[in-house]
Amino acid sequence: MFTEDELEHLREHLSHYPERRAGAIYCLYAVQDKIGYIDDKGIMMVTELTGLSKTQLEELITFFTLLRRRPVGRNVLRICDSISCHVMGSRQVLEAAEAHTGVALGEISRTGSVTILPSICLGLCNHAPAALLNDEDEVSRLTPESVQKLLDELDQQPFQQSATGSQVIATSGHSMLTEGRDH
Ligand code: FES
Repeated sequence: MFTEDELEHLREHLSHYPERRAGAIYCLYAVQDKIGYIDDKGIMMVTELTGLSKTQLEELITFFTLLRRRPVGRNVLRICDSISCHVMGSRQVLEAAEAHTGVALGEISRTGSVTILPSICLGLCNHAPAALLNDEDEVSRLTPESVQKLLDELDQQPFQQSATGSQVIATSGHSMLTEGRDH
């Protein structure tokens, strides 16, 4: 899964954390970034790196909603269903999205283009009902119609091969790329 250089980077990064669980989150994100989710092999690798048990890692993944144990589509759309968004119609938005993809929330759409997940408050309450696309693009004031249009657009995006390297590792403060250039 990781090259020896990447593993060395993870070990070095872990050495900065007095609390192993905090460092484990970084490693779990690196696994997810690499293959799209955290598989059993990734869990085993992080147990070896951190000394934490599989159960402790499962607890972390359960607590942090941005970490996932199952494969997802090429895009992940998190639609908020907390109170402000709920009042502004997020339930109807979620139902329209589910009907449009033809699969239940959390499943990969038939085209493979998206996985829709309900989310706790995204901090975008003044744009309710709100969503977050791929953990970075804000989507404001959704309606059943606008979410269907967005899903159509995602369907039409050309397939992009996922990056083979971990962006988490590559963009971290002590980037291996930077270190490589220094030597
Ligand atoms: S309640 Fe939906 S973003 Fe805050």
